[in-house]
Amino acid sequence: MRVAILISGRGSNMAAVLRAAAVPGYPATIALVLSNRVDAAGLAVAQAAGVPTAVVESRSFKGDRAGFELAMEAELARHGVELVALAGFMRVLTEGFVARWRDRLVNIHPSLLPLFKGLDTHNRALEAGVKLHGCSVHLVRFGVDEGPILAQAAVPVLPEDDEASLAARVLEQEHRIYPAAIAWLAAGLVRVEGDVVRVAAPAASGALAN
Ligand code: GAR
Repeated sequence: MRVAILISGRGSNMAAVLRAAAVPGYPATIALVLSNRVDAAGLAVAQAAGVPTAVVESRSFKGDRAGFELAMEAELARHGVELVALAGFMRVLTEGFVARWRDRLVNIHPSLLPLFKGLDTHNRALEAGVKLHGCSVHLVRFGVDEGPILAQAAVPVLPEDDEASLAARVLEQEHRIYPAAIAWLAAGLVRVEGDVVRVAAPAASGALAN
């Protein structure tokens, strides 16, 4: 299955997926890395890995979200993309885009959803005093960080944690679960039943424990 990864910045989750996809037998081909910012550091990483890249600058569309998304759709079509993976892509997508890519659009978010949707998740977790925090991979529905959850990983919040230490602990788990969840989708192992997602092969969820 041909996958596009959409980024806005560093692209460490993108890099983790590229590493996984380079292993023979991985069920997805990364057909495109698309950024809405020309200065996204992840673009150079993708280029170094020999993956096609494109930039559709959201800024140049000045609030014309439909126009911005049409330009993105053109790139996705040009590269034969079948599944879109958001990886630190910091633009909210319109209802139309989300509907067109229903069940073929996936996101990684740095919290245990449905807790801490939106930005600044690690600080908010620290302020809330939760003892477990983590990350979620979910299919995208309209609304910020909305949609059926495909995979999650939890980490402890330690007394000495600050935002940086907690973010680093969560990020390590993001890099583990995102390539796995994309593989399940690409291999056709995911069944969506209303707002609940089931991974068809029990062995697949076991793989995350390794
Ligand atoms: C990641 O922690 C990702 O979960 C988060 O942005 C970071 C991007 O890092 N995404 C969101 O907050 C989206 N709601 P990366 O560019 O190194 O993958």
